[in-house]
Amino acid sequence: MKVDVLLGLQWGDEGKGKVVDVLTPHYAAVTRFQGGPNAGHTLEFEGQKYVLRSVPSGIFQGDKVNIIGNGVVLDPALFKTEVEQLEASGHDLTSRLYISRKAHLILPTHRLLDAAYESAKGSGKIGTTGKGIGPTYTDKVSRNGVRVGDIELNFEEKYKNAVARHKKILSDYNYPLDKLPELEKAWFEGLEKLKQFKFVDSEHYVNHLLAEGKDVLAEGAQGTMLDVDFGSYPFVTSSNTVCAGACTGLGVAPRNIGEVFGIFKAYCTRVGSGPFPTELFDETGETLRKLGHEFGAVTGRPRRCGWIDLVALRYAVMVNGVSQLIMMKSDILDNFDTVKACVAYKIGDRETDEMPFDINEGVEPVYMEFEGWKTPMDKMTSADQFPKAFKDYVSFIESYLGVPVKIVSVGPDREQTIML
Ligand code: GDP
Ligand code: IMO
Ligand code: MG
Repeated sequence: MKVDVLLGLQWGDEGKGKVVDVLTPHYAAVTRFQGGPNAGHTLEFEGQKYVLRSVPSGIFQGDKVNIIGNGVVLDPALFKTEVEQLEASGHDLTSRLYISRKAHLILPTHRLLDAAYESAKGSGKIGTTGKGIGPTYTDKVSRNGVRVGDIELNFEEKYKNAVARHKKILSDYNYPLDKLPELEKAWFEGLEKLKQFKFVDSEHYVNHLLAEGKDVLAEGAQGTMLDVDFGSYPFVTSSNTVCAGACTGLGVAPRNIGEVFGIFKAYCTRVGSGPFPTELFDETGETLRKLGHEFGAVTGRPRRCGWIDLVALRYAVMVNGVSQLIMMKSDILDNFDTVKACVAYKIGDRETDEMPFDINEGVEPVYMEFEGWKTPMDKMTSADQFPKAFKDYVSFIESYLGVPVKIVSVGPDREQTIML
């Protein structure tokens, strides 16, 4: 039995939360394996909308077990807020949300460090979500991190040492500490909430499920172009968002990975700084933002919008070994006369359809233009209702990427999902 992985192929916000919720009934458990509350995964059903940050998106489907894996970084303060909002809407999670002892804790000083590093970068800033993600993963890799399991052991000493070290760095950066008492208060209240949950050795838990013949779904956060190794470095997040991240972030062997669901929008968006070859600065970009409600689920920042980038997508398919594609938000393109797809990059006088080392400068997209379908798709319920122009667009993407599209999403609701 396998761990299927669902992950973003672009710069995040592809619609991962929605599809994980839809697929959950097929699995015994849903897990997050990397990232943290920089994620904002939106789900809609029965007229309700939820945004999840650290809690996996399988939490609304019956009594399925949801697991926050070892590769995740967790902020108790934000976790408490998230859980309490869910409790207020009638979803009690304590009996079915487990947390890996090996997950690292985001401390209040990590958030301050995130802000200090960003402001020191000036115009070269990454535009992080400000949630302390980079500094927490830095401490993990430099072997200074504090883990969930430490809460049951010598937590106080570890916390104090970490904060003392962070304060030294913050003082080098001349970064003020005045917000720290307030952040710490919320954080320690969060810690009490966190303690109500079951801490597990999740690598054992997940492998036991597999041994019992059960399937598990791993939910990616961010997207491949934000991966710390393969994304548009340095404008990336600090974890491995690619499929291999599910192995290290859960403790499952590569041979236990099953399907790799690669999810993408019918166009493309990005939040924060960094290269985005197909970004549109004109009215079309504005239209995509307005129709697609492209504003960050976490920060509310307007998302940058552009046409689909098949060069970047094919690269993402390659590094992840994507076996099935999921296309989201095609309804947003319903009214366009024509739709474009980037099929190559022009760099100087050279044209390439392979992702170059650096897309930071001088990359010009080469487009193919497709006839728009000019038909509302949001009420469609099966693939045989798809207009021909839409089918042609999908067929081209499938042949360019060499992988079939198996799900098309035509609206934010759980029900607006068409299996092909
Ligand atoms: P995630 O981070 O990958 O889970 O994606 P986000 O939740 O950040 O962003 C996706 C947004 O698009 C959310 O507001 C969803 O409700 C919405 N959405 C998802 N699928 C569709 C779709 O097919 N059509 C439309 N119009 N909206 C969608
Ligand atoms: P989901 O899971 C979109 C971006 C930030 C910034 C960069 C680094 O909802 O798709 P970080 O706070 O991680 O150090 O920021 O990564 N970013 C995301 N963009 N969706 C996300 O998550 C993101 N998580 C981080 O905007 O450019
Ligand atoms: Mg999101």
